[in-house]
Amino acid sequence: MRVFVAGATGAIGKQLVPRLAAAGHEVHGMTRSESKQAMVHKLGAVPAVADALDPDQVAEAVGRARPDVIVHQLTAIGSLDPRHFDRDFALTNRLRTEGTNHLLSAGQAVGVQRFVAQSYFASFARTGAAVKSEEDPFDPSPAREMRETAAAIRHLEEAVLDARWTEGIVLRYGSFYGPGTSIAPGGEQSEAIRKRKFPLVGDGGGVWSFIHIADAAEATMAAVEHGNRGVYNVVDDDPAPVAEWLPALAQTLGAKKPVRVPRFVGRLFAGEAGVVMMTELRGASNAKAKRELGWSPAHPSWRQGFAAA
Ligand SMILES: NC(=O)c1ccc[n+]([C@@H]2O[C@H](COP(=O)([O-])OP(=O)(O)OC[C@H]3O[C@@H](n4cnc5c(N)ncnc54)[C@H](OP(=O)(O)O)[C@@H]3O)[C@@H](O)[C@H]2O)c1
Repeated sequence: MRVFVAGATGAIGKQLVPRLAAAGHEVHGMTRSESKQAMVHKLGAVPAVADALDPDQVAEAVGRARPDVIVHQLTAIGSLDPRHFDRDFALTNRLRTEGTNHLLSAGQAVGVQRFVAQSYFASFARTGAAVKSEEDPFDPSPAREMRETAAAIRHLEEAVLDARWTEGIVLRYGSFYGPGTSIAPGGEQSEAIRKRKFPLVGDGGGVWSFIHIADAAEATMAAVEHGNRGVYNVVDDDPAPVAEWLPALAQTLGAKKPVRVPRFVGRLFAGEAGVVMMTELRGASNAKAKRELGWSPAHPSWRQGFAAA
């Protein structure tokens, strides 16, 4: 198949493009920068230079590639201050709204068979079971500082699933770890933990799901090749509370134990969004992805995965 990867140069793109190419697909990799064309080429794709926020450039790049499948892996996350969650996610939110719309329009114009898009596991309602399936509802009242980010995720998912002219597939990845991610030696989150700037707030009862970046790429391959319309949680087998994974990650990084702070202190320097993520988040189950994509993670638990990565 001809596969167009928007976000070919990112953490997931760098894992996905070589896998697609090795499987015999003709891959077209999108980047904003002329200077990253050589990297895209080296990964195994034909470079396509376009700004995802410019509908004409996207239409032209997709029109030239004439893909069978589009994969949307566009984000611009960078550094995050959870007190200003929506501010720091503003560009990512545009990529998830406008960027999604432009890619869908361009895909419809060339009649792509599948459209696979990146979402995130952390949008579930913060009530009931600690671990949620794809059927469970979104959080009806996200923390104030992350409302726009939640709305952008919702837009992306609805737009993709509503595109009845294609197989619209949403992959809700767990938090990435492994090469090129923010949980890698030197990565943003790892550094914050090493410097003890990532405290354990309250009871640390927020449940997170993780996924090794290579496993995320393998699941994406399966979705590209035989996924059916719908949402899939692409997470490992071991959703766990912050109180378990944060000290374990600190230990793996050779850092001191995380500082423990009560909720009201957490709120001062991580905002309501930070407190919600540390104490109320719900994890995700990968049963559907295993069953329907025929995928299972080579790193079934972050407990061994963090150390291996
Ligand atoms: N599920 C998760 O846990 C998750 C999800 C996403 C990110 N992250 C973490 O956050 C870290 C930083 O993420 P990041 O968002 O900077 O991602 P990244 O891994 O650097 O990838 C971003 C991709 O989007 C492309 N892109 C961004 N804006 C674009 C635009 N206007 N037009 C065309 N392409 C555009 C970039 O391409 P060019 O730069 O080549 O133009 C790049 O390929 C990652 O390392 C990862 O660990 C985690």
